[in-house]
Amino acid sequence: MHCQARIADTAGSEANGTKMAEILVLYYSRGGSVARLARQIARGVDEVPDMRARLRTLPSVSAVTQPLAPSVPEAGAPYLERAELAECAGLILGSPTRFGNMAAPVKHFLDGLGTEWANGTLAGKPAAVFTSTASMHGGQESTLLSMQVPLLHHGCLIVGIPFTEPALSHTRSGGTPYGASHVAGAADDSQLTEEEAQLARALGRRLADIAYRLGRP
Ligand SMILES: Cc1cc2nc3c(=O)[nH]c(=O)nc-3n(C[C@H](O)[C@H](O)[C@H](O)COP(=O)(O)O)c2cc1C
Repeated sequence: MHCQARIADTAGSEANGTKMAEILVLYYSRGGSVARLARQIARGVDEVPDMRARLRTLPSVSAVTQPLAPSVPEAGAPYLERAELAECAGLILGSPTRFGNMAAPVKHFLDGLGTEWANGTLAGKPAAVFTSTASMHGGQESTLLSMQVPLLHHGCLIVGIPFTEPALSHTRSGGTPYGASHVAGAADDSQLTEEEAQLARALGRRLADIAYRLGRP
């Protein structure tokens, strides 16, 4: 079957002689909030047996008249290599909210995926999204929904957070049915609330569990 072959083809990692399928947790973060969510999501992925998170970032974009950034990030997760899109069993994509939408580096990345779209590289793979905003009503849901649209064009199976997660009904900050989120306020170093962290882990777990089930013989 197609999905079976996909997991079998996934580069993955080895643990105790067992092939581990990998979920790509891919994000852009300038101030660190989206990166904090990404780490919780990765923890959730790793809680699923035989599944592992692969954390990757996206570089900033600059106009042609500006100097280019170093080809390797100064800290944190490495930049994505395009081949990793084919290798992953699922994708979880994160972006800060910019004027109620995804940040330019994430849109730039998506706009460059014509070859992957034509080849169906992501078709049939589960995908989810996450974001961070400064303010409570600053556009989390519009950002999350707009990030899902191009993933649907790629044939991804969109995964959200169900209300069977108790924290979704209790949160007084981030966490939405459309994806994980954080309300960062004005400070760059704001920590996730317990509910935001729980819901981010739940999203990672849920996506990894669905990828695992899709790949089962
Ligand atoms: C150009 C720009 C536009 C932004 N637009 C919004 C917005 O529409 N709503 C909001 O609540 N926060 C907005 N923010 C704040 C960021 O979404 C917020 O600081 C987020 O937590 C940053 O994530 P990061 O720390 O991972 O970079 C904006 C920030 C910048 C720089």
